[in-house]
Amino acid sequence: MIDVRVQQIRYESDNIVSIQLYPIHSKLLPSFNSGAHIDVHLPNGKVRQYSLISPLQDRRYYEIGVLNDPKSKGGSRYIHQMLKVGDQLTISEPRNLFELDDTDQKVLLFAGGIGITPILSMWSSLAIDQRKCELHYCTRQMTVPFLDRIDTFKIMNSDSQYMTYIGNKDSNGFNIVEILHHSAINTHIYVCGSLGFIQYIEDTALAMHWHKHFIHKECFKNSETILELDSTEEHFLEIVSTGHKIPLQQTDNIAEVLNEAGYTVPMSCEQGICGTCTLHYIEGELYHQDMILNEQEHMTLFTPCCSKIKSKKIVIDL
Ligand code: FES
Repeated sequence: MIDVRVQQIRYESDNIVSIQLYPIHSKLLPSFNSGAHIDVHLPNGKVRQYSLISPLQDRRYYEIGVLNDPKSKGGSRYIHQMLKVGDQLTISEPRNLFELDDTDQKVLLFAGGIGITPILSMWSSLAIDQRKCELHYCTRQMTVPFLDRIDTFKIMNSDSQYMTYIGNKDSNGFNIVEILHHSAINTHIYVCGSLGFIQYIEDTALAMHWHKHFIHKECFKNSETILELDSTEEHFLEIVSTGHKIPLQQTDNIAEVLNEAGYTVPMSCEQGICGTCTLHYIEGELYHQDMILNEQEHMTLFTPCCSKIKSKKIVIDL
């Protein structure tokens, strides 16, 4: 864990701020690669992941970009309403689940909304490496966030080009079929945005015969699947180590039920993206709603922050 101080908060658009964090106990911070993120531990107890957008070579500070999410569960709202210059925060060391390949081939970057943050870091890295790349940036905001930085790295890299698509998807002119049609098949694709945006890019690329190995993605927000859940019938969780049976309804948040019963479940994203809350279960059925576990893993693992109970009981290996 690293203690940092908020040195600068800058408005990038009406609802996005960038925040510079300087280390308190050292001069330099750990190095990182483009696409990396840090966990930010907020004073209200929430832990959130944010991509690093600071220059890779400048280890004096980290910078993150934060959207004021209207559906915030206390992370981005706290940052936008309460955080101020001079505040002290604790952060994790950088982690990277969205790394650039290390070839010298051309790259296609796609960003939807605040999904620009890890893509921005890749854009700067590709400029430093003078690598051929295209950035396609869809945003609903008339004042395009981070455009000054995109321009700076465009000037550095004559082999790069970018397009912004402003407005909603039906009228912004973004045509993924045409973009892929003009690119060599299996050009590496990096996409970050909402689940719907990612699926649109991925499905189109797969339909145009891209191999999935060449499609790299990071979702910043899980979709909310509408489940028809019963809020009257009683279900229960059984804890292996204690035999404790905890009643709950299908609509209940399993992580909250466990925490209230005294079984501490660490949480971070609270929407099935980070994996922090993952638990083993040995019996029962669930509606899995996360973005990180595959079908095989769902046989024994689940994320209680967003999964819902399906069978009468599930037995949890706690
Ligand atoms: S807290 Fe992130 S997946 Fe559950």
